[in-house]
Amino acid sequence: TLIVQEDNGFCSVEGSIDSNHSGFGGSGFANSDNKSGAGITYSINADYAHNALLDIRYAATSNRPADIEVNGTVVGTAYLPATGAWDSWNSESLTVPLEAGENRIRLIAQTANGLPNIDSMTAVGDNLSAGSCG
Ligand code: GCU
Ligand code: CA
Ligand code: CA
Repeated sequence: TLIVQEDNGFCSVEGSIDSNHSGFGGSGFANSDNKSGAGITYSINADYAHNALLDIRYAATSNRPADIEVNGTVVGTAYLPATGAWDSWNSESLTVPLEAGENRIRLIAQTANGLPNIDSMTAVGDNLSAGSCG
């Protein structure tokens, strides 16, 4: 199990890393710009191709659905319904297909509200490790 906070495996957010709402782990949470298409990019290595479970820990006061992209292909939707407050965190899980080697995973906001604030992304699979972002 690989827990990705704001460092290893976390590549970028179109927005900022903030810490002004409590309850997060690591050094803060990713606050995307409030616009459609704003995203977060992660990099995860898998020894071989298999399905992994991604668990996204987030907070938002409105529904913030997102496309999940793996290596440039949209593989699903995370619905990310409102949690009620910016310091109230829930998680949503979905299964994604990983390829052997480095996987570029992106969450991409479907609506003009952007993504929810995202604390961490936990990947449950076989021999996963943080990838490089270059
Ligand atoms: C507020 C909140 C931010 C959040 C933003 C949003 O400004 O403080 O943390 O990202 O709303 O609507 O996305
Ligand atoms: Ca935001
Ligand atoms: Ca965090």
